[in-house]
Amino acid sequence: MYDAAMKPKYKPLPGNEKPQATFSKCPTWCKLTRFKIIGLIVIFLTAIVFLLVRCFNTSMVQGRLFCCTQNPILAPAGNLYKETLDKTLGDYDETLEGSNNLHYKHTRRHLPQCLVIGVRKGGTRALLTFLNLHPLVVTAPNEMHFFDDEDNYSLGLDWYRKHMPFSFEDQITIEKTPAYFYFDYVPERVYAMNSSIKLLVVVRDPTERAISDYTQIHATKVLKNKPHETFEELVIDEDTNDIRRSYTAVRRSIYHRQLEQWLEYFPLKQFHFVSGENLVNNPYKEMYKVEEFLNLPHRIQKDNFFFNKSRGFYCLQMADRQKCLAESKGRKHPDVDPDVIDKLHEYFDNHNKKFYRMVGRNFGWP
Ligand SMILES: *[C@@H]1O[C@H](CO)[C@@H](O)[C@H](O)[C@H]1NC(C)=O
Ligand SMILES: *[C@@H]1O[C@H](CO)[C@@H](O)[C@H](O)[C@H]1NC(C)=O
Ligand SMILES: *[C@@H]1O[C@H](CO)[C@@H](O)[C@H](O)[C@H]1NC(C)=O
Repeated sequence: MYDAAMKPKYKPLPGNEKPQATFSKCPTWCKLTRFKIIGLIVIFLTAIVFLLVRCFNTSMVQGRLFCCTQNPILAPAGNLYKETLDKTLGDYDETLEGSNNLHYKHTRRHLPQCLVIGVRKGGTRALLTFLNLHPLVVTAPNEMHFFDDEDNYSLGLDWYRKHMPFSFEDQITIEKTPAYFYFDYVPERVYAMNSSIKLLVVVRDPTERAISDYTQIHATKVLKNKPHETFEELVIDEDTNDIRRSYTAVRRSIYHRQLEQWLEYFPLKQFHFVSGENLVNNPYKEMYKVEEFLNLPHRIQKDNFFFNKSRGFYCLQMADRQKCLAESKGRKHPDVDPDVIDKLHEYFDNHNKKFYRMVGRNFGWP
């Protein structure tokens, strides 16, 4: 009696059996209408197509098979790239930071397929900085002085390669050491490494170059107010009152002699001469020719450059700011006696004409 009385109390009421079951058969997602589901699928497919197209374009530009790394020009906001540029432009003339040295998959260190061999104070630094804008170019972080320095050279090509940045198979590795152009034992060594290597030479008005050479060498002395010889004292021979031919700043400005040493090993078609004047005054046009010489697709664009009137030279236009070549580029040349300038112009005139004939281009120096 007692049990029977309790039982019905705990038995579920007939209408309340499995009360939730009928509703939980359809969770939230299945409440969506067919229309909404189709809409979602369309959005999903569109996103995939968009990503594929983007990836394909990037790979085309970079010649890469995957799309994890961004093209620095298409995506100039990439922090890595900006940092690299900052460093690159940190000092226009003397120090040099090359491409960022990250070891992506499928990259390795390659010996340079192109060298910037000269000339000292010609604008090689600007050339390398501008070349760095190109996604298919990587540059060595320092002037290596591999071929001109006995100690470095004796360490061998493997040592040299280990100092090159990582690069993809289709990228061009470039090293610049302006001293290479000058020393007569360098061409043979470069030839031994790669007889079909491409050679870039930035040339500039030899008179300006000589003064600039002097200015750099004496800059520290001038800065510290140490006694130093003037340009005139060094460049003019007291006895003859003529140009002192043995002065290195003069000798380095005679381009045809240095080129002759190189032409013993390499045909002219392996050289490209960059006008240092044009590089400053019309960088886009000059870089276009360099891209052509290197068989690179044109990627350096007009609006990568921006003329800063107060500075009087081009700066690089980046996504969110401008980046200008650093101060030492604008290092003040001393006021050289105009008579000495005239003498230099006269002295270099024949040498320049010889050089123009050799390379088949008139650079229009005074
Ligand atoms: C090569 O030798 C020069 C000395 O002439 C040195 O300053 C330079 O750092 C050397 N290069 C490297 C990568 O060590
Ligand atoms: C030599 O340089 C040429 C021109 O840049 C390049 O195509 C070639 O791959 C280089 N050879 C080697 C072995 O690096
Ligand atoms: C040009 O260079 C000057 C001097 O460095 C700088 O102060 C100025 O902001 C630059 N002008 C522009 C428009 O970038």
